[in-house]
Amino acid sequence: MKTIIEPFRIKAVEPIRMTTPEEREARLREAGFNLFLLRARDVLIDLLTDSGTGAMSSEQWAGIMRGDESYAGADSFFRFESRLQEMTGFAHVLPTHQGRASERILFELLGGPDKVVPNNTHFDTTLANVEHSGARAVNLPIAEGRDPRNRHPFKGNMDVAALEHLIDEVGAERIPAVMITVTNNSGGGQPVSLENIRDVRAVCDRHGLPLFLDACRFAENAWFIKQREPGQQDRPVKDIVREMFGLADGATISAKKDGLVNIGGVLLMRDEDLFRRASSLLILTEGYVTYGGLAGRDLEAMAQGFEEVLREDYLQYRIRSTAYLGEKLLAMGVQIVEPPGGHAVYVDAAAFCPHIPPEQFPGQSVVCGLYREGGIRACEIGSVMFGRHSRPAMELVRLAIPRRVYTQSHIDYVIEVFDALRARRGDLRGLRIVDEPPALRHFTARFAEV
Ligand code: F0G
Repeated sequence: MKTIIEPFRIKAVEPIRMTTPEEREARLREAGFNLFLLRARDVLIDLLTDSGTGAMSSEQWAGIMRGDESYAGADSFFRFESRLQEMTGFAHVLPTHQGRASERILFELLGGPDKVVPNNTHFDTTLANVEHSGARAVNLPIAEGRDPRNRHPFKGNMDVAALEHLIDEVGAERIPAVMITVTNNSGGGQPVSLENIRDVRAVCDRHGLPLFLDACRFAENAWFIKQREPGQQDRPVKDIVREMFGLADGATISAKKDGLVNIGGVLLMRDEDLFRRASSLLILTEGYVTYGGLAGRDLEAMAQGFEEVLREDYLQYRIRSTAYLGEKLLAMGVQIVEPPGGHAVYVDAAAFCPHIPPEQFPGQSVVCGLYREGGIRACEIGSVMFGRHSRPAMELVRLAIPRRVYTQSHIDYVIEVFDALRARRGDLRGLRIVDEPPALRHFTARFAEV
């Protein structure tokens, strides 16, 4: 087997800048130990997120020039709409400026006080939008999904028995929709099997509940299905994608992930009445239904991105390059969520620095250590992000890989930095929050070292 290479060559480059340890120490303190508050120019390798940070193709840039900027009925909209209809099978396609705008519209229509929304694991903006509507968000991952060392092939699956139990407990009338996040970002970028989506669909059917996908990383999920699910090996990814969406009544998508664009989102559904009500809300806050808060050129880039992301040489390279990072970290003794996820590797920060208790945010401490050591920016997914009300199951640090941006030597550098940090991890110190906003605190909270 030959090396799985990047299935593209580089046409435009953007310099990145090395800083000195002294500079980084000063920048980190100015930012209150919160890497969201750094300036990007002070970061060497930015693994904060895979969202909107990908590189577009020459065909996408050509689409940017072709964009039709008509207010209503632009050609670019119809290219975008038919691309999504063909890919997903949904009749109704609304563009939004990004995933959370789709979520906000959906939960303004479906949520509300007294309602309960189950999900395998809500992403932070989804959780915040459910709660903002007054509803309660419930996470129902399978037990294997909470254990970093368990190599279950579909750790993103929803616990179907727990879903039935929840429906019995609160009553189907209080559940406006069941949601499945593919891949399960907050649970380690782990995939959900077709079998699990079918099982959840069957439960929804028995209780008359709609099923929505949070489908930001649907193509990566479909690639895992092709690799790991019995009977799926010979199926084109686009067929698997079509079946995934076919099992749902609608979907929210942040196109900043598998749409391969820097900005954009989608809200999809079958139901005519819901579509009408969603269109009214879209017009109220995003824009007219044929542009939804975007420029025509953004719709062109999305139409093309949703085509390129299903190319199997791309998906093979994408998933392999994430696995490469994960396997090297495991080999040096750094515990990660196994197996590596699709868009990111999640380091078990509690295991990396056992001397730092959860209330002193071990994940945030590792994130600060990576920046100090090598100018790498990663993201805490643990008690800072989710611990306001209760302790999350895991204290993780996410190394998210932007799409088509970094080469293997960039990733080798990240591995070297990790090795150096590991050698002196005993020096890592806990943190306490000195200032925090009322919601989504990880974006703006400031910390001090304990
Ligand atoms: N759902 C999931 C599973 C996500 O990962 C995200 C974004 C969203 C919804 C919201 O989409 O950012 O376009 O509004 N995740 C990014 C991340 C921010 O870093 O994982 P958005």
